[in-house]
This record gives sequence, C-alpha cells and structure tokens, in this order.
Amino acid sequence: ELISKGNHRHYMLKEIYEQPIVVAQTLRAYLQRMEEQVTLPIPDFDLSAIKRVTIVACGTSYYAGMVAKYWFEQFARVPVDIDVASEFRYRAPVMEEGGLMIVISQSGETADTLAALRHARSEGQTIAAVVNVPTSTMAREADLLLPTHAGPEIGVASTKAFSCQLAVLAALAANLAKAKGKLDEAEERRIVRHLAEAPASLNAALAYDESIQAMAGVIAAARDVLYLGRGTDYPLALEGALKLKEISYIHAEGYAAGEMKHGPIALIDDAVPVIVIAPSGPLFDKTVSNMQEVQARDGKVVLISDYDGIQAAGDGCIATITMPKVHPLIAPLVYAVPVQLLAYHVAVAKGTDVDQPRNLAKSVTVE
Ligand code: G6P
Repeated sequence: ELISKGNHRHYMLKEIYEQPIVVAQTLRAYLQRMEEQVTLPIPDFDLSAIKRVTIVACGTSYYAGMVAKYWFEQFARVPVDIDVASEFRYRAPVMEEGGLMIVISQSGETADTLAALRHARSEGQTIAAVVNVPTSTMAREADLLLPTHAGPEIGVASTKAFSCQLAVLAALAANLAKAKGKLDEAEERRIVRHLAEAPASLNAALAYDESIQAMAGVIAAARDVLYLGRGTDYPLALEGALKLKEISYIHAEGYAAGEMKHGPIALIDDAVPVIVIAPSGPLFDKTVSNMQEVQARDGKVVLISDYDGIQAAGDGCIATITMPKVHPLIAPLVYAVPVQLLAYHVAVAKGTDVDQPRNLAKSVTVE
C-alpha cells in the first residue's frame, strides 16, 4: 500500500493532523451515539467477573496504559497493576484467577509485550489486546481484540496510535464499570458525550500549531527539558519528554509535578525549560503551585492550559500554549497534540530526521 505524506513535510506531522478523524473512527466502534451507550466490538463477553486488571506495554503505548489506570480505578473501581513489558516478563507478578490482562501495542508485534501476553496466558488470565494492526500476532493470540482504527502509522515516533489507544481504553473502562454495575445511565451518557467531543477538541488543539512552532526555538536551544503534570497529565508529561528525546535528541524528563521537590527541583535554573501540563480541573491549583516553585528558582516555564488556566496562572511564564477547554476525561487525548507538535517543531528546528530518528525502530521485534 502506498501511503503518501500529502501536503505535509513529514509523516509524523501528517499523522498528528489525522488525529481528529482517526479518533472519531475509533470511537465509532465503541460508542452508540444515538443511544448514548458504550459498547465493545466483542459479542457475548462478560466483563462483570473481572476482578483485577494488569496492563503491560512498551514506549508510548505504555503511557497510554498509565492514563488508563486512572480511568479503570475511577470508573470501574478495580485494582490495576501496570508495568513495562520488559520488566513484567522477568518479575514474578501475582496474577489471580479472574484477572484481565490488557496489552497495548501499535504494531501488535513488540517482542517484550508479546512475551508478557504469553506469560499472562500461562497464568490463566483473560487477554485483551488494544492493537492497531488487526492481523498482528497479538491480535491473533488475544481473547478480546480491541482495535484502534488509526490506520497505518509510518513515523517512528507514535502519535495517532496513542490518541486512538486512549479512546479505546476510555471506552473499555466505561464498559467495565457498566458491567460491574458501577456506572448509572446518566453517567454513561455523560461519558459518551464527553468522548464524542474529542474529535472537535483535537481539531481546536491543532489550530494552535503556529503558536507552538513560534516557541520551538527556545526549546531547541536547551540541553535539558523537564515536563511536569499530575493525574492523567503525569503520563502525558512522560510522553512529552519521550517524544522530545526520540526526535530532537534533547535530554528530557517527565515527572509527577508533586514529586519534583524530591529531586528534579535541584536542576532548576534559567537554562532548563519546564513544560507544565495543567488543564483546568480538580488538580489545577496543585500543579500551579508546583509551577510557582519552579518560577521562584528562575525556571523558565511554558504553561500548557486552557484560556481560564492561563488567565489564572500564566504570569511569569516564558510562553503559554492555549488549549480548548475540555472535560478532564478527554484532556489526555487533547493535550497529546501540543506535546507532539512541540517535539515535532523542535526536531525540525534542529534539523533531525523526524520520521526516522537515529537508533530507533518503529517496531521492536527482538528482545
Ligand atoms: C518502539 C517505537 C515506539 C513505540 C514502542 C512500542 O519503541 O519507536 O513509538 O511506542 O516501540 O511499540 P508498540 O508497537 O508495541 O506500540
């Protein structure tokens, strides 16, 4: 199949821009818009007996899993264990009967994740696979195939697969909650409405591309960059740092905002840009107070928030990136856009090979 870059300079940029469409496509398979219900594309599978969830993945897919842990706990009230596949497969994880193992993988072929799947199967777990390639090994070996409909992803740094994974995992969390009697009809309707808003909000986020490009030069000049977030924005901070590392080769670290005082704060000076991901919501004030600790030490903060958040806390930042105001449920999908675009424009400013970064492979099929 011949896949073109269209009008875009790189596959990565094209794939970032495809997100409103592919997330909508993915959600269509998991939401009944008319009835305002969540559904899974698996007939006759009883989720109500699931007592525990284990999530295993690598790279960007692992960060999608980290976001999902918050959702499974919040909506379905089930305990969730999560690990990177290369660690999971060599420890002695305790997997009791009635457990659901969720592997998340764009390719469906990552060697460590596949080994983790097989290990969990030997321990009697039910296996769900959130994969983008429906003919992949993981898709074939799983009990439940939960496809993302992102279409082929060519850029080595994963973008649209991530947002589609989040869409599937949010729907799965809601389905699990429903099966366990933890979701009343009104709440289910609200979740469907929020998720259905994601494509339009992703479009609105893409409209800020130029302002993100305009500030890429500041980040491109840095040697180290710190990303901070709380709650579901913590995995986003990790993902933002990963994207920047992967394609611009700048050292970057993602940290839970509240954990900064236990170490990374020692690194803060006016040479280390700090990207703060803080949508309006219950954790906003907490993250802003961590941001102020950075500013008090002459740290250069770039705040990514919505208009209200930026009005409330934007003073003293070297730059702000405005996002549409969204419900906290879809914030991780929408805020993926600015972190992806920022990494992209920094890499372009540095002149690196965006689609084929050095030393990295799209799919790691050896251990
Ligand atoms: C490689 C890719 C990443 C990807 C990771 C996991 O490292 O470069 O973009 O997130 O593998 O791949 P998977 O196909 O399992 O999602």
